[in-house]
Amino acid sequence: MSEQHYQFATRVAALQPNTLREQAKESQIADDYIKLTYGYPSNEAFPVAKLAKISERIYRDHAFEFMQYGESEGIPKLRAQIKARLSQYQGLDVITNDVLITSGSTQGMDLVFKIFVNEGDIVLTEEHTFVGAVNAVKSYGGQVQGLPFDLERQSINPDVLLETLAADTAHQIKLLYLIPTFQNPIGTSMSSADRQRIYAICRDHDVMVYEDDPYGDLLYTETPEQPKIKAFDTTGHVIYAGSFSKILAPGSRLGFLLAPERVFQKLVLVKQVADSFANLYWQYLASQLIEDDEFNAHIAYLKKLYKVKLDAMVAALQRDGGGNLTFVVPDGGYFVSVKLNDDIDAAVFYDELDKRHVGVIPGNVMSAAGQGYERYFRLNFTLPTPETIGQGVARIAAAAAAAKKPQGISV
Ligand SMILES: Cc1ncc(COP(=O)(O)O)c(C=O)c1O
Repeated sequence: MSEQHYQFATRVAALQPNTLREQAKESQIADDYIKLTYGYPSNEAFPVAKLAKISERIYRDHAFEFMQYGESEGIPKLRAQIKARLSQYQGLDVITNDVLITSGSTQGMDLVFKIFVNEGDIVLTEEHTFVGAVNAVKSYGGQVQGLPFDLERQSINPDVLLETLAADTAHQIKLLYLIPTFQNPIGTSMSSADRQRIYAICRDHDVMVYEDDPYGDLLYTETPEQPKIKAFDTTGHVIYAGSFSKILAPGSRLGFLLAPERVFQKLVLVKQVADSFANLYWQYLASQLIEDDEFNAHIAYLKKLYKVKLDAMVAALQRDGGGNLTFVVPDGGYFVSVKLNDDIDAAVFYDELDKRHVGVIPGNVMSAAGQGYERYFRLNFTLPTPETIGQGVARIAAAAAAAKKPQGISV
């Protein structure tokens, strides 16, 4: 066969294969491979029996609706339920904002970047951030600029944001993409004061905040819940994104955006172009689960299930990590982020980890710059059992010990 010379559009030239997915293939090779890699819920987290029951009712009562074409905004009932929840539990303004049901929150960011990002525009993010967002920005020819993440503060520094926006005299910065609650990959949550200030700074500079919040419901400690950045928004400068992936099933491909009315109108247009509407069957399932008053109980169950796993990971890191690994204990979410101490050779560490059959996500993958963060790696604790977590962390600690640079050599 002759060689093919495709002329791909420039907007896809900068896209890198998603290492998270690439590793998915490798990890299946060894029988004893321990996956602390991706943000997967555990199988015990799926309410299979409840959904099977609901499913029968949906086939009986709504078959012709969910098999037919549907509305781009999403089914009215689920949109109303989501609004009621956001208003009741988070105090969000659902009068001057509207809800669009998306095909996963992955599509939410894609649609938002599509309507705001021109070629060459900048989207600010935390320096440690979700690779899906980075790729989505690049797919529209945008640039991603990471702001330093202050681990003590559990946030970017609002003063740095202010300086960055003030220096942007050409107004290239269009959006600030943040994961303020149970951050991916770091796991931590921004304080209320920082949220309020970040909103005010973006409002004053007319920059839209994209608040990505797929983990927000999963708080495992007694720490009071932080308000959403969106809760401070009185001027239409924040788009709030939620997802059913982490609290129901990623296979549902259900997410949503709460966006200011004018933004919402544009989002509906691009949603029509993208895929017309999100999967109707799952919209009915989710809606019925909420209507049957099962959803809060399900989230309460998840919190119990995952707290045990988080505790197992923290205990294992405290037991085995001493001297070589540092980490911040999160209050919720799916991840613990770990840093290799300076006397560990990061390249050797990842080789040692491969030999020991443990999958983690290296910091470079989950960063705006894509490099310079090899000392960080992310661990998922929701998928594995507590026992597997213990074994995985023990292997990680052994890999770190094996990668220790000989004493007296400083780099
Ligand atoms: C911060 C963040 N945003 C969005 C997503 C995508 O979620 P969804 O399955 O809703 O597309 C993820 C999934 O890992 C995530 O971690």
